[in-house]
Amino acid sequence: MQASFDLADRISRISESSTMKVAADADRLRREGVDVVDFGAGEPDFPTPENIKNAAVAAIAANFTKYTPTGGTMELKKAICDRHHDDYGSDYSPAECMVTVGGKHAVFNLMQALIGNGDEVIIPVPYWVTYKDVVNYAGGKCVFVPTDEASGFTFTAAKIAPHITDKTRLLIINSPNNPSGAVLSREEFERIYHLAAKRGIRLMTDECYCRFLYDSEPFSIASMPGAKDHVAVAGSLSKTYAMTGWRIGFALAAKPLIDAMMKLQSHTTSNPTSVSQKAAVEALRGSQESVPIMLAEYRKRRDYVVGRLRAIPGVKIAEPRGAFYAYPNISVAFRNGLHSAMQFSERLLSEAHVAVVPGEAFGTSEHVRLSYATSMTELARGLDRIEQFIRER
Ligand SMILES: Cc1ncc(COP(=O)(O)O)c(C=O)c1O
Repeated sequence: MQASFDLADRISRISESSTMKVAADADRLRREGVDVVDFGAGEPDFPTPENIKNAAVAAIAANFTKYTPTGGTMELKKAICDRHHDDYGSDYSPAECMVTVGGKHAVFNLMQALIGNGDEVIIPVPYWVTYKDVVNYAGGKCVFVPTDEASGFTFTAAKIAPHITDKTRLLIINSPNNPSGAVLSREEFERIYHLAAKRGIRLMTDECYCRFLYDSEPFSIASMPGAKDHVAVAGSLSKTYAMTGWRIGFALAAKPLIDAMMKLQSHTTSNPTSVSQKAAVEALRGSQESVPIMLAEYRKRRDYVVGRLRAIPGVKIAEPRGAFYAYPNISVAFRNGLHSAMQFSERLLSEAHVAVVPGEAFGTSEHVRLSYATSMTELARGLDRIEQFIRER
């Protein structure tokens, strides 16, 4: 019998990441010898570019293998600020920058530094899984704002305004969005920024997919004049440079907020991995040619996936404008004892051997998320199976 544990209240407020759970379920089946097509992982299938790997090898050879300053080396902080300036025209100094252990860690630090008991955080739906758990862990309250599926899961300042109360502390924007691929127009982003600034609310912009845009130019709200007082950027090298395993992310924000996050980080991870930091400097300062190459490949795959999904009678999909996810509405398959995206995903995995993430993880119940950061061969195989599974229901 398993001993019962008295666990802290805060840990019961969060749940295991559903994307990690899907990966574990798919992995278990694979170990049993099942041929699984995996659309679960939000991870580029490209290898980390050679120049970046070589920088890490050189760092090891040079014994750059010790502790670094808590918030990352000055060399890397400067490289982050410079790249953000060059890409988006922002104006951050190294004192307003910190390196974190992946973008997820930047989001976590930020929430811990900013959100207290009862503080409200506005989160548009669908949302990246982690936001609600880190808000709950910090003792805050999530205020979910629905978006409009018919117009590609877009949302507006006007939709957000009625949800603001005197307890609202933060608004989270993730554009391009995981899971929908929705991209906020520059004009709407600016309207949302002005609304937040006027009401004294901070805005966290998660720029994890900012370089993967299909129809618009890269843009950061953090480049607005005066934005530092209201905006915190959570960034990541994971997707942009196919570096998920290296665990390098960053935050850009006003110095008092960075200092607060740094205090926390000094007692948790101490610093991001030294070798990864050297690799990150090369990623940011070296050749950027791998980024448009990956984007062109993602665009091809997006067009293919959207075309295939639209060809399945009853399946609807808003065309993703960025990132590498498709978020189709599969409610047409809700019959014969199947009533939710969760059940759809479980049955799709056990019967058709395709792993997708159920929409419930992102706040909706009629969708599933497919990552198309995988080869065309795998996409074709998996979509054949999905099509057959839905047609035969
Ligand atoms: C929207 C979003 N933000 C942040 C992250 C964090 O990425 P990482 O911690 O690998 O840098 C992810 C990863 O899936 C994401 O989808």
